[in-house]
Amino acid sequence: MIIPNLKEAQKRTKNSVQIKTDEYKVSEELKELGKNKLYFIKTYGCQMNEHDSENIKAILEDMSYQETYDMDKADLILLNTCAIRENAHNKVFGMVGRIKHLKETRPHVIAGVCGCMAQEESVVKEIMEKYRFLDIVFGTHNIHNLPNILNTSLAKKELEIEVLSIEGDVLENIPVKRDNKYKAWVNIMYGCDKFCTYCIVPYTRGKQRSRTPEFIIDEVKKLLQDGYKEVTLLGQNVNAYGKDLAVDYKMENLLEDVAKTGIDRIRFVTSHPWDFTDKMIEVISQYNNIMPYIHLPVQSGSDKILKLMGRRYTKEHYIKLYKKIKELVPNAAITTDIIVGFPGETEADFNETLEVVNECQFDGAFTFIFSPRVGTPAFKMTDNISIEEKNNRLYKLNDLINRYSNEANQKYLDKIVPVLIEGVSDKNDKFLFGYTDTMKLVNIEAYNKYIGQIVNVKITSVKTWSMNGKVVE
Ligand code: 5AD
Ligand code: SF4
Repeated sequence: MIIPNLKEAQKRTKNSVQIKTDEYKVSEELKELGKNKLYFIKTYGCQMNEHDSENIKAILEDMSYQETYDMDKADLILLNTCAIRENAHNKVFGMVGRIKHLKETRPHVIAGVCGCMAQEESVVKEIMEKYRFLDIVFGTHNIHNLPNILNTSLAKKELEIEVLSIEGDVLENIPVKRDNKYKAWVNIMYGCDKFCTYCIVPYTRGKQRSRTPEFIIDEVKKLLQDGYKEVTLLGQNVNAYGKDLAVDYKMENLLEDVAKTGIDRIRFVTSHPWDFTDKMIEVISQYNNIMPYIHLPVQSGSDKILKLMGRRYTKEHYIKLYKKIKELVPNAAITTDIIVGFPGETEADFNETLEVVNECQFDGAFTFIFSPRVGTPAFKMTDNISIEEKNNRLYKLNDLINRYSNEANQKYLDKIVPVLIEGVSDKNDKFLFGYTDTMKLVNIEAYNKYIGQIVNVKITSVKTWSMNGKVVE
């Protein structure tokens, strides 16, 4: 049993990162552990977590488990959790309650919690006190060891916890079962060293560790051979890619080398304005296969709040960067993240956030009410804004964001744009759906033969969240 430790998770040393290529192994004995058994995995949170679930699925299938989408039929249930806000917690514990109920009629079921919540000392303590009917808890640094964790729990018939609170290594031989046949997530780095004062990620995911370019390019080349059309380069702060490598090789170099593989579409998330270099903007503007889509979280428009958040830029710096991107990549869609109700945010501070939205007219935004996370500096800041006021601000902000999203979408009306068609729409099976290279969702009345292809589509009508279009042959 290894339980998480907040103090250890906060530590950053100068120790160099190990690249391990043979850490993941499944012994012959464990290869049959899941024979004739089904697993169900529910994923919460960001793309990084989605991709971790793709690794977990492949590991389970290496042990002969098969996937089911029906939790009631599963022999193994895993919740891959997110810790970013309190409501993510509440959802997970709601699900844990359902699992308790299910285990009453299916006592053989093995159930576990993994991901970012598992990295939290306070959460694991709660599980040890109140949810001992769970069988396994493992962290973001322990995924490769899942076969042994499962085996130990089955042998002991009691809760097995393995959560390392370490800065982390880079493991290169973890298998992956991709959910999508045309679009793939590619990790380029792990962890984060920015320590924004509200954010739990540096504690749940360890220090920044970049993968070496060779492994990344190799993965993209293989995806290209396998018929993939789009890759998303993933990291908590991709613009800082390479800063921890021994060689002088940064995000702009990586973007260029990935573009040169010839894969149709490349995007990257998430960008921190601090590390967004002019050279990067230049590279994006030079390669047609780098998607003109940039997610650039601003978080707040008030310099006072940005300072309290530890963001290391000002409103002016952000707007300047935004304009530079628009100037060099005029068709770029830019989206953002905004937090309202950060401790100390006054009406005047909030109005400055609205000003940035008015100035930038984002294509879209994810907006949140500040959620205090145990162990982060902002947890201890005095927060004297009422929840009503926070809700009002969120409502007002969303109203403005939606107006600009709609306006941005209106510009597409009657235009012909390339769309990567992914499949049949969930809402109406007469329609296919796909995304433009600016990440606009398009529903298209067309034949299945287009699925998996990038086709030219004429936009015929536009809404705030999606558009309709027709294939242009
Ligand atoms: N409270 C509210 N929102 C948060 N985010 C990160 N941490 C918190 C928090 N404690 C938001 C930020 C980030 C996005 C992924 O989630 O806007 O960019
Ligand atoms: Fe992703 Fe952060 Fe949530 Fe972890 S806490 S799943 S890194 S958003």
